[in-house]
Amino acid sequence: MSKMTWDKLLQSQGFGTRKECQSILANGEVVFNDEVVRDYRAQVETDGLEFTVFGEPQRYRWQVYIALHKPPDYECSRKTSHHPGVLTLLPDEMALRDVQPVGRLDHDTTGLLLLSDDGAFIHAQSSPKRHVPKVYVATTHEPVTDELIALLRKGVKLHDEPAPLAATHCERLSDNELEIVLEQGKYHQVKRMLAAAENHCVALRRTAVGGLTLEALNLAEGEWMFLDDRHLALLTGITA
Ligand code: URA
Repeated sequence: MSKMTWDKLLQSQGFGTRKECQSILANGEVVFNDEVVRDYRAQVETDGLEFTVFGEPQRYRWQVYIALHKPPDYECSRKTSHHPGVLTLLPDEMALRDVQPVGRLDHDTTGLLLLSDDGAFIHAQSSPKRHVPKVYVATTHEPVTDELIALLRKGVKLHDEPAPLAATHCERLSDNELEIVLEQGKYHQVKRMLAAAENHCVALRRTAVGGLTLEALNLAEGEWMFLDDRHLALLTGITA
């Protein structure tokens, strides 16, 4: 059980600075238990707290864990250059509470992207020591041959990597489509591995991270959702 004043609580949820949150309260924009909350100094129990801000229902979350179905033409970097950032697909509060992508997908890669404001979680998920498998479906320019699958399983040498990188699992899905599972998260890894194997990746989609699949989450492109403990447990047992 923990209590907080309303201005601090709104700030923690990404509604602005302490002063801005005090104004939101003074303007009667916060409703709790069917009553407008104006006293920013009033203490409230945060566990399971539900309230509305600007008429939108909110639930207090100490930290947030998000799954986004990333569309093409969005960038994961903080300073975007040619496309909008993935954070623009989430409510403004998420950027204000410093939500960040867990690892990066290229601007043209689609599929499952995790985001959080929990630094320890981001670190644990990204750590090579954790071996979190990431599943991708790649569309290739040249046909997918048995030799290509064998090579990707055996490992290919990328020019700035000391040792060959191998897929944990790789299988042909159709003439020009393969599923590849990687435990590392090197820059452009799938595209570079395919290029090193003398093929070319023309489209890439991430379908799962650990045991969390995009299909089970049922998110259309551009849609997102908060993850609960049950979802987090699917990420190789790393819980928040
Ligand atoms: N590998 C790539 O080449 N690109 C991605 O976005 C993810 C993995």
